Amino acid sequence: MQTKLINAFTAGTLALLTLGCQTSKGQATSQEIPSLKNTFKNDFLIGTALNAQQIEEKDPKAAALVPKQFNAATPENIMKAEVIHPQWNTYDFDLADKLIAYGKKNNIKINGHTLIWHSQMPAFARRIQDVDSFRTFFTNHINTVAKRFSGKIFSWDVVNEALNEDGTMRQSPFQQKLGNDFVTEAFRLAQAASPNTELYYNDYNNEQPAKRAGCIALIKKIQAAGVRIDGVGIQGHWHVGRIPLKDIEESILQYAALGLKVMITELDIEVLPRNFQGADVNQRMASSPSLNPYTNGLPDSVQQQLASDYEALFGLFLKHKDKITRVTFWGVNDGQSWLNDWPVRGRTNYPLLFDRQFKPKPAFYKVIATQTKS
Ligand code: G3I
Repeated sequence: MQTKLINAFTAGTLALLTLGCQTSKGQATSQEIPSLKNTFKNDFLIGTALNAQQIEEKDPKAAALVPKQFNAATPENIMKAEVIHPQWNTYDFDLADKLIAYGKKNNIKINGHTLIWHSQMPAFARRIQDVDSFRTFFTNHINTVAKRFSGKIFSWDVVNEALNEDGTMRQSPFQQKLGNDFVTEAFRLAQAASPNTELYYNDYNNEQPAKRAGCIALIKKIQAAGVRIDGVGIQGHWHVGRIPLKDIEESILQYAALGLKVMITELDIEVLPRNFQGADVNQRMASSPSLNPYTNGLPDSVQQQLASDYEALFGLFLKHKDKITRVTFWGVNDGQSWLNDWPVRGRTNYPLLFDRQFKPKPAFYKVIATQTKS
């Protein structure tokens, strides 16, 4: 009870401090709110996914907030193969170069995302039938892209989402054409092309026991081949009220025991219903407002649950701060989140710490308070 009172006091004090910093018009500015990156500076990096608009600083509110709150960034889409390597012999580094410059200017570490992923592959690569040509695409892609940013980028998600939920290898074009060893081979090529860059494997649900076991086997295979892997990313796309804390903790421990850095790489907490399946969701959406219940704002009870879920997660991350090197949110604010358009388009979701006006939500203050408590 006493702890709870202290916690409530700490959170309340922070909120008051923030309110105390309001302008004469009564609006807190991003300068006056606590900073995530400063609050956790002795614990782990705090990252965000950036979209093209944010990289080009076209949105003044995001441009003001991002450097104050984050010291790491992952491009949400612009370094994926379909953007950066649109044709066999054509690469487009324009936005990626801008991201590198943005990171340098703002002292933000850039994590490249991602060299090898079955999704968002360029159309030409999806059409390749013969194995030799596909292997040439695979090799050229890693060599060219990793070499281009060698010495400029902090880290790469070398391979993304190579596993099925049961821990077996996903039947992706890479797996089907190159066999299971494509993962080790990707790391080998990345290491040669970018020797001073940290190299990670990244996946979702890899905190779940079966997929985690497959992930551990995959990592051990890379290590056994004498190929460097520096870290593993647990994406962290979770659902409100259902955060698998025990599985996450077990995973942090087991991955760290392999000698790897552990990162939470795409954190968000979805609040909308997922109790549907199949391809008819968009059709049903039109006649079913129940799939999009919070268009006029998030009810307080859900807001509080979201805040306490984030609080529990950051409490766990701090407990294992010696093993966790970065926590990255998948987006800056709720309006930008991919979860507004997936698995149903055009919904109003609330998965992040900043609302659509870039104002910190109750979850933000709970997250900040976990550090002051620790
Ligand atoms: O850029 C086009 C635009 O020209 C077009 O008008 C519009 C019409 O749909 O689509 C736009 O592209 C969209 C793109 O995001 C940029 O907004 C794609 O349709 C859409 O599929 C794509 O979604 C991205 C998704 O990866 C693709 O699988 C999300 O933004 C991005 O957040 C998401 O990120 C992934 C991580 O890379 C890996 N882990 C899972 C995570 C969430 O799915």
